[in-house]
Amino acid sequence: MRSLLLLLALFPTALLCAAPPQPLYEIRAEHDPNGIGKFYMGREIAHVMGHQAANWLERSEREQEERTDLLIAAMELKPGEIVADIGAGSGYFSWRMAKAIEPKGKVLAVEIQQEMLDLLQRNMARRQVSNVVSILGTTSDPKLPEAGVDTILLVDVYHEFDEPFAMLGAMARSLKKGGRIVWVEFRGEDPRVPIKTLHKMTVEQAKKEASVFPELHWEKTIDVLPQQHIMIFRKS
Ligand SMILES: C[S@@+](CC[C@H](N)C(=O)[O-])C[C@H]1O[C@@H](n2cnc3c(N)ncnc32)[C@H](O)[C@@H]1O
Repeated sequence: MRSLLLLLALFPTALLCAAPPQPLYEIRAEHDPNGIGKFYMGREIAHVMGHQAANWLERSEREQEERTDLLIAAMELKPGEIVADIGAGSGYFSWRMAKAIEPKGKVLAVEIQQEMLDLLQRNMARRQVSNVVSILGTTSDPKLPEAGVDTILLVDVYHEFDEPFAMLGAMARSLKKGGRIVWVEFRGEDPRVPIKTLHKMTVEQAKKEASVFPELHWEKTIDVLPQQHIMIFRKS
C-alpha cells in the first residue's frame, strides 16, 4: 500500500495510463470498404484522402459548413508560436494560422503526399505567406523538432494515420512542455453528421488512444463547431 501511495505521489497519472495493445495492430480480412483492414484499439483505420481530391478541401462553402473561422478563433493562437499543421493538405489551415502568429511565428506544414506539398507551396506563394515551412513526413514520423512545437493542429487526419501509435508518440515528443494538440474530428457520436463512419471519431476513442502516452492529458473538448469536436490534449 505504501509503495502504491509513493508511486501515485511521484507519478500522479500512473494509474490512469493504459498500456499500448500487444500486438499494436490487428489485421482483419472482413472490414469496412472505407478502411484499410488494420485496427488500432478497436477502431479501423481509414484510407488516406488522395491529393486528387484536394479541391474538396478548398471548396468555397467550407467555411460556412465547418465554421473554420470559429476553429481558428477557438485556437487562441499567439504571435510567435511554432505551430505544426499535420496532414496539412492544400494548406487551408496553414496560411490562416500563419497570419495569426506572424511576424515571428512559424507553421510547419507536414504531409506524406509530395503532391499536396507542391499545391500547398503554390497556395502560400499566391497568398504571399512566407512563414509556412513544408515538411515531407512519413506514415510514422512527422519529422518535427524535438520539444520545439507549441501547438499541433490535426484537422480530419488522425483517423487516417496508418501508424497512429508512432505518430502520436512522435507528436508528443515534438511538443514543448505545456504545448498542446488541437485534435479536430467529425463527431462519431452523432449519426446526423453526414460523413462516413471511419472518417469520424468519438471523444472517448480519442481519449483512449491518447491514454497510452502519460505525458498527454485531455484538457477540454470545445463543441462550438457544427459537425466536429475540437479536443485539446496538453503535454504536462
Ligand atoms: C482529409 S485531408 C485534411 C487536410 C487538412 N488538414 C484540411 O483539413 O484541410 C488529410 C491529409 O492528411 C494527410 N496524411 C495522412 N496521414 C498522414 C501522416 N501520417 N502524416 C502526415 N500527413 C498525413 C493526407 O495525405 C491528407 O492530405
